Amino acid sequence: MILVTGGAGFIGSNFVLDWLARSDEAVVNLDALTYAGNRENLASLEGDARHVFVQGDICDRALVDRLLAEHRPRAVVHFAAESHVDRSIHGPGAFMRTNVEGTFTLLEAARGYWGGLPATEKDAFRFLHVSTDEVYGSLGPIDPAFTESHPYEPNSPYSASKAASDHLVRAWHHTYGLPVLTTNCSNNYGPYHFPEKLIPLMIVNALAGKPLPVYGDGQQVRDWLYVKDHCAAIREVLARGRLGETYNVGGWNERPNLEIVRQVCALLDEMKPDPAGPYARLITHVADRPGHDRRYAIDARKLERELGWRPAETFETGIRKTVRWYLDHQDWVARVQSGAYRAWVDQNYAGRAAA
Ligand code: NAD
Ligand code: DAU
Repeated sequence: MILVTGGAGFIGSNFVLDWLARSDEAVVNLDALTYAGNRENLASLEGDARHVFVQGDICDRALVDRLLAEHRPRAVVHFAAESHVDRSIHGPGAFMRTNVEGTFTLLEAARGYWGGLPATEKDAFRFLHVSTDEVYGSLGPIDPAFTESHPYEPNSPYSASKAASDHLVRAWHHTYGLPVLTTNCSNNYGPYHFPEKLIPLMIVNALAGKPLPVYGDGQQVRDWLYVKDHCAAIREVLARGRLGETYNVGGWNERPNLEIVRQVCALLDEMKPDPAGPYARLITHVADRPGHDRRYAIDARKLERELGWRPAETFETGIRKTVRWYLDHQDWVARVQSGAYRAWVDQNYAGRAAA
């Protein structure tokens, strides 16, 4: 079996669902169920003995030790994190705790467990750390895309905390020989994406007739990858990645934010037309994110060359599936927009007068 952390979040829940759809290898899913964790994402696994859900904190060393000793996983796949850049600007402390201290705790627990395994299990063990392209900083308009050897230049509290965790993972391999793998992925989108992030926020606001808040001029560029392609890349790296290596994961799909928002609006116009007029009428430029990175781009050729991975979805196919999913899961959307969600929306957007 494998131990997954953060498997009730956006990418983690897609990973667990896809994993168990493909194999009977069980998953122990350790998740603290913060505002971003949602057991409803895993409802289809209710009663499935292959999925053991444990509500708990990755900073709890005794708990992690106990789960490793009890379940004897052959791998740890580490998703758990505070993941939203805007939240890291309002409150960086939680990011240092979970992303840095939590990763440290997991590494130490994994090191102790791995050190005590018999030789064949020890050779087979893997610790896969899921990270982000944001650790590389921001690119100019014509700079080449980030390769794995690009210097680390994180600019937000979030990316700094992820960069720190990447460095810990690297050091635990170099110093202790822990068999680690790291993936650095670009922006994901798809089912179960919490509507604090750009694409799901635009979908849910548009359907509610609310403004679509575009930071600054909306010309910031991100590379977008359908979440199930990211999950497939992680499975490949886990199965065949070279120990101690990092692998960039991306969609070969760089687009400015404004273009993304317009595309979401156009799909909604087609799938659920609003009698009041095209959804793009709701686009509102608001104050920019402090320290906003201008451009990310991922060079994912190493992953293709070594492991044969390429994304299966284009942005056009992936975004269509995503908008359809949100239209078909309005109950899920309504339930995640709790009081805590509304408080966050007030905190992040109230001070951003329309520009
Ligand atoms: P998410 O915020 O949707 O989910 C994070 C999950 O971690 C939640 O279920 C939450 O309850 C859990 N968690 C938080 N703190 C915890 C703690 N202390 N102990 C145990 N569980 C805890 O995040 P996501 O978007 O699914 O991202 C998952 C991972 O992938 C993160 O490490 C993130 O940095 C990385 N990543 C995300 C993206 C993206 O576009 N979303 C891209 C590249 C990399
Ligand atoms: O690049 C990978 C990263 O992508 C992950 O590591 C992070 O966990 C994930 O949250 C994401 O970070 P971003 O900051 O790029 O994602 P977000 O959806 O918050 O924003 C995408 C872009 O859209 C960014 O340039 C900011 C902009 N934006 C975002 C929001 C929420 C807006 O213009 N308006 C908004 O309301």
